[in-house]
Amino acid sequence: MTAPKPQIAVIFGASGDLTHRKILPAFYNLLRHGSLPEQFAILGYARSGWDDARFRERARQSLEEFTPSTFDQETWKRFEDMIFYQSGPFDEADCFTPLWERLDALDRERGTESRRLYYAATPPSAFPLIVERVGECAPRPDTRLVIEKPFGRDLESARRLNDQMHEVFDERQIFRIDHYLGKETVQNILVFRFGNALFERVWNRDAIDHVQITVAEKGGIEGRGAYYTEAGALRDIVQNHVLQVLAFLTMEPPRSFSADAVRDETLKVLRSMRPMDPAAVVRGQYEGFLDEEGVPKDSLTETYFAARAEIDNWRWSGVPFFLRTGKRLPRRVTEITIRLRSVPVSLFESAGVEHLTSDHLTIRIQPNEGISLAFNAKRPGPGFEPEPVRMDFDYDETFGADPADAYERLLLDALEGDGTLFTREDGVERAWEVVEPLLADRGSVCSYASGSWGPKEADDLIAPRT
Ligand code: BG6
Repeated sequence: MTAPKPQIAVIFGASGDLTHRKILPAFYNLLRHGSLPEQFAILGYARSGWDDARFRERARQSLEEFTPSTFDQETWKRFEDMIFYQSGPFDEADCFTPLWERLDALDRERGTESRRLYYAATPPSAFPLIVERVGECAPRPDTRLVIEKPFGRDLESARRLNDQMHEVFDERQIFRIDHYLGKETVQNILVFRFGNALFERVWNRDAIDHVQITVAEKGGIEGRGAYYTEAGALRDIVQNHVLQVLAFLTMEPPRSFSADAVRDETLKVLRSMRPMDPAAVVRGQYEGFLDEEGVPKDSLTETYFAARAEIDNWRWSGVPFFLRTGKRLPRRVTEITIRLRSVPVSLFESAGVEHLTSDHLTIRIQPNEGISLAFNAKRPGPGFEPEPVRMDFDYDETFGADPADAYERLLLDALEGDGTLFTREDGVERAWEVVEPLLADRGSVCSYASGSWGPKEADDLIAPRT
C-alpha cells in the first residue's frame, strides 16, 4: 500500500467530543500503522482559545482514554510533533485569514505542498459557514471536504446543503461520513455476497422469507440531550446507518469496487425502496428520557424505532425488512438476520416435529463480529429427528485481531481521495425521501422500561413472520 500524498488535515471543531473520541485516535492509529505520509500535519481549529500545547495535552489524554491498547510513548512523540491548533470564529467574512497564514507557514515547515483535507466535525449549524469560509480562498481541485452527520434534517435541508457545497466543491471532493460504512463487518457484506457463489443464489425473494436489521444500544443519549431531542432514533440511526447497511445487503452486484460503481448500485436499490409507511412503524421512548439533561419535559422524541420496509424490485418484492433500533436496551448488538423460507413439505411429522425451524443466516456487525448459519441436522439415534444446529465464523478467532475502528479506515480513504465508502449526494437525498413520510407524521410514542427490548407493539409488527 502506498501512503497518501503530503497534506494537512484541518479539523474544524477541534475542541469537541468527536475530535477527541474518534478523529484523533484514528489519525494516531494511522500513524502507528505507517499509513500517513512523512510530510503531514493536523491543524485543529475551534473557537476555544487554546494553543498548540493545550491541544496536545488534551489529545494525549484522549488517546490514553480512547485507544489505550495502542498508546505508546514512541508513537505519541511523533504524533505530538505533527499536531497544531489555531483558535478563531466561523461567522465573519475573512475570519479564516489567520488560519490561511498558519497553513502557509506549516506548508513551508512540513513540506505539505499546499494540499488540504478539511474535516467539518462541528455541530451541523456550522457546516454552511465552514463551506462559505473555505470557499473564500478558492480551494484547489484536489482539496477534500469530509463532512459529518447529520447531513440535513430532511430532504429540503439536505438539498440546500448539497447545493451550497457544490458552489465551492465538486461532488468528488466531498466525503459525507457514515461511520457504519467504515466497519469491517459492514464491508464484509459485500465480500460475503460477491466473493462466494453459494449465497448469492438464494439472495432473493424466492428463498428469503424476511430480513431483520437490528441496531440495539445499551447506552442512553450520553449528555447529548439537545441534539438527540431534535434527531430521535429515526434521524440518528435509521436514515443513515440502517439504510446504508440495508443498501449493501440488497444492492445488485456493482461492475467494480470503484466509488461510482458501488454508489450507483446502492442508489438504485434505495430508489426501489418504498417510502416508509407511518402505519408500519412503532416508536418508543425509554422511561426516564424526559429527566435527561437538555430534554424538554414534554418531548415526544423516539429513542426506539421499529418499522417494516419494502423494496419494490424483481429481487425483493414481497420480502419484508424489519428495521429496529433503540437506546437503553439490554445489550449492545448490531446484527442482520436473514430468515429463509420453510421447506415446502415437512417429512418429519412422524418424528413428532410439526414445524421445522427455518434456516437463517446471522451477520453480526458488532460485538463478537462474525457470521453464523443455523440449519437443521439429524439428531443422532434412531429415526429422522431434525435438530437446529449452527455453523459459525468468528472474526477474532479467524483473523486474530479486533477489526480496526471505522474512522481509521474512512480517514485513510478520504486522505487518498477514495469515496467508495462515503455517501454521495443522490444517495443521501434518496435516503431522506425514503423516511420523509415519517417526518411529517410522527405518530404516537409508546414508553418502554430501560433495559427491556423495547415496546411490545414492536413485537406485534414482526409477529406474523415468526
Ligand atoms: C452515532 C449516533 O451516529 O452512532 C449515536 O449519533 C450512536 O447516537 C452511534 O450511539 C452508534 O455507533 P456504534 O458504532 O457505536 O454502533
